Amino acid sequence: MKSVSDIEETRRQVLAMRRDGHTVGLVLTMGALHIGHRSLIDAARKRCHRVVVSIFVNPTQFAPGEDCDRYPRTIEADLAVCRESGVDLVFVPSVEQMYAADAATTVHVDRLTEGLCGAHRLGHFDGVTTVVTKLFNIVPAHMAFFGEKDYQQLKTVQRMVLDLNLPIQIVPCPTVREPDGLAVSSRNSYLTPSQRRQALSLYRALRNAVDAFAAGQRDARQLTEQAAGEIRGAGPVEIDYVSVVDAETLEPLEIVDAPARICVAARIGRCRLIDNLPLASSK
Ligand code: PAJ
Repeated sequence: MKSVSDIEETRRQVLAMRRDGHTVGLVLTMGALHIGHRSLIDAARKRCHRVVVSIFVNPTQFAPGEDCDRYPRTIEADLAVCRESGVDLVFVPSVEQMYAADAATTVHVDRLTEGLCGAHRLGHFDGVTTVVTKLFNIVPAHMAFFGEKDYQQLKTVQRMVLDLNLPIQIVPCPTVREPDGLAVSSRNSYLTPSQRRQALSLYRALRNAVDAFAAGQRDARQLTEQAAGEIRGAGPVEIDYVSVVDAETLEPLEIVDAPARICVAARIGRCRLIDNLPLASSK
């Protein structure tokens, strides 16, 4: 496994893989790798001859006052995970390599980024779509693997790839959960043991909503109020949103008469947690 920080060298390596007839899969990460990231790497290994992972804590997707500075940085352990998982190339740039001091270009996706996390993390999705575009240009892969855990991010990137005719296929991958159901996240490491128990209320609330939907409930307000009640009942929490949205457009629904997703974001202590589940008649 090679680990490279230079942009041109990375591009050269990936173009050489392609010239040799290999398909290239890309997994973009901010490091602090866990079993959720591993599942994306495994999916890439299954679908592609070569797997490239990027590790970059992207400052432009953190709003002022968010956790960019204290975001966990565990590069040695991350490289070990990549090595064990059969990754071929790791791209680990510095902030200075990625952003010129006088950079003046931002990629913005409308509508999909307005609600949910977009309404609570100003500028977040512009930071994401800009860095993802840059990484797609630096690593000319055939496929990129994204987790459904960050559902709004997945849908936004899919839209961007369509709108900008980017020559890459986005492969969605299911959310990996702890045995009790909590969605695995790098930020879970911020939780104290009692906050960790409390955090499970997010998953419980989503599961209850899925069950209520399966039992015939189609009123989005009923579903979200029940879910919010479940989360508030578990302890002190600041709920950013509980929302039932159209699974494609992410527009809020009043009546669930189309494929939908119930999405939640809440702060427990200093940890902001997000999760989502599909509301589908078959489930
Ligand atoms: P990060 O939070 O490190 O996540 C990297 C990828 O791992 C994303 O596609 C995310 O959805 C996926 N992921 C995280 N937790 C997961 C879980 N429990 N199950 C399945 N997939 C999971 O998302 C980012 O970084 C950044 O915004 C990035 C796309 C790298 C741009 O900076």
